[in-house]
Amino acid sequence: MVKYQVIKKSKTASGEVNIMSDGISAEAMQAHATIEALLSENRVFPPPEWFRAQANVNDPNIYDTATKDPEAFWAQFARELDWFEPWHQVLEWDPPHAQWFLGGKLNASVNCIDRHVRTARRNKAAIIWEGEPGEERVLTYWDLYREVTKFANVLKRLGVHRGDRVVIYMPMVPEAVVAMLACARIGAPHSVVFGGFSAEALRERINDCGAKVVVTADGGYRRGNIVQLKRATDEAVEHCPTVQHVIVLNRAMDATHVPMLEGRDHWWHRLMEHAPIHCEPEAMDAEDLLFILYTSGSTGKPKGIAHTTGGYLTGVYATTKWVFDLKEDDVFWCTADIGWVTGHSYVVYGPLANGATILMYEGAPDYPERDRLWELVEKYRVTVFYTAPTAIRAFMKWGPQYPKRHDLSSLRLLGSVGEPINPEAWMWYHVYIGGERCPIVDTWWQTETGHILITPLPGITTTKPGSATRPFPGIEADVVDERGESVPLGAGGYLVIKKPWPGMLRTIYGDPERYVKQYWSRFPGVYFTGDGCKRDEEGYYWLLGRVDDVMNVAGHRISTMEVESALVDHPAVAEAAVIGRSHDIKGQAIAAFVTLKEGYRASSDLMDELKEHVVKKIGPIARPDDLHFTSELPKTRSGKIMRRLLRDIAEGRALGDTTTLADPSVVAALRQRYEEQEV
Ligand code: WTA
Repeated sequence: MVKYQVIKKSKTASGEVNIMSDGISAEAMQAHATIEALLSENRVFPPPEWFRAQANVNDPNIYDTATKDPEAFWAQFARELDWFEPWHQVLEWDPPHAQWFLGGKLNASVNCIDRHVRTARRNKAAIIWEGEPGEERVLTYWDLYREVTKFANVLKRLGVHRGDRVVIYMPMVPEAVVAMLACARIGAPHSVVFGGFSAEALRERINDCGAKVVVTADGGYRRGNIVQLKRATDEAVEHCPTVQHVIVLNRAMDATHVPMLEGRDHWWHRLMEHAPIHCEPEAMDAEDLLFILYTSGSTGKPKGIAHTTGGYLTGVYATTKWVFDLKEDDVFWCTADIGWVTGHSYVVYGPLANGATILMYEGAPDYPERDRLWELVEKYRVTVFYTAPTAIRAFMKWGPQYPKRHDLSSLRLLGSVGEPINPEAWMWYHVYIGGERCPIVDTWWQTETGHILITPLPGITTTKPGSATRPFPGIEADVVDERGESVPLGAGGYLVIKKPWPGMLRTIYGDPERYVKQYWSRFPGVYFTGDGCKRDEEGYYWLLGRVDDVMNVAGHRISTMEVESALVDHPAVAEAAVIGRSHDIKGQAIAAFVTLKEGYRASSDLMDELKEHVVKKIGPIARPDDLHFTSELPKTRSGKIMRRLLRDIAEGRALGDTTTLADPSVVAALRQRYEEQEV
């Protein structure tokens, strides 16, 4: 077993993170002391017997069974879904192109709704929703059926045909799920754009996928403010020639104050008034596109990750069932926004395909107070809770008095996703949220993988705080060195996946070459994740963060190049280099180094303006935390920016090797400036 020595500092994606930061509350300090004591015991956590006994899967032999015949393993889950026509072949693997369930025909909305309304689940809650201002709504599976079929008819009437793309840019309201499932019903791939992206980012995504319709809302609530989604949509759509219609949900504003463009813009409620219920689902081929979701890669341009119907649905169905162990009376709360893949797979498709009850919450975790999430857990008797380490680290900093105000005894299982979870955060989650009773599943996956690939199975796996443990049954992962060779246990390297899995991306929308180059060329025939990983002596996986130019800021994937492009787009900027520096809550923070064009002077006003410019180009999630003006950037003799040095400077470390630098004095000057600005 690997021994972790984590007391005040712990490893995360970006290196050492000091948990004891300023502004920490007294309660948080006390909690930290408790955790320290627990950590020094090097404990491991076998599944509690009460959990194991009731788990959806508790037979450790399933790993061997799945390894021997992964196709049969996945097919078993696929058979639990509803198909119009069965497949004739489980997998066609022509590296790097996979097809799953060939010849099979199905519809994702039928699997998420119709098959439940034919059973006793008809009147079961599908979605329990709470708005940030406190409104409550419950949609049963039958309600969901009605709303989805009606909205599917609305889309059809507006001329959306099978294969047409629809962009969804909405707050966390049930209608966002309705819109996704309605698209799935008529075979129109959706592309959900996170409501925190700017008008320009939205425009880029709409144009990349050539959407015919955009579904949005007037606004959504965030910490008491209204995020003006319709205004951003108007700005975006102005330069989107493919968009014919914009559907607007009246969520947050007085409708009379929302400008609507005659012929193009339509109120959701008006269209729904006359829409008939029932809509024949399209029989989609297993390999037909279900959705496109944009994510950041190592270049400036976001990639449209393309997921198809049969394999994706099988993968999310299986992982939801086994990893989250959902039962008929569970209330599952995945806190992700539907704008991210976690929301797609574990708010919408996975849980609904399992006929589960999900909780959706619109707003911020600290609004109106820092106990909002725990209040909701208590109020709705949430049983399975899934969130990100960045949130857990924020809860830690706020202190345990907030969860302690509430009865969290309904919880039976906790999950983590989005970035490496440091052992302190794991232990805090275990003690203060899980009551030392709930197993924790640390789940590793990506937008590209579609569903969880590395994770404990809560009824089988002994967990270790900070490790995602081992690959899901049927997944063949490995850790390799520069040459693509497996490293021995105990060593670190690149995480790769060696065999296709059902929910894997099929391509990058509109850029099939980039798909091959990005994921399958580093080590031919093997999927390159872009993550570093270490395996301990027992074969447990410890994720180490990205090895490429992708930052993970508060669980959001942002590419350094994207932020750099946004900065150089400003007339004052000559050159920009962006790096992720370690941050005690967000995992990474964005640090930008900027050189100005002739005639521009560095000032704090310009600094604010440049940060705002990034917000305008991408969205608030990409706002640089620090911005440093410099007369030059450190470059190698061949002209490459040495990001490693910038990271050293931003994190206050001794500088590494600078011998390849074209002009070593640049670094010294930079460092000095940085230190001056730090005060
Ligand atoms: C990181 C989110 C460590 C990783 C589902 C990956 C994680 C990227 C974990 C994908 C985890 C996600 N432990 N790192 N449990 N889960 N990551 O596409 O770097 O938004 O490559 O998908 O998040 O981010 P994405």
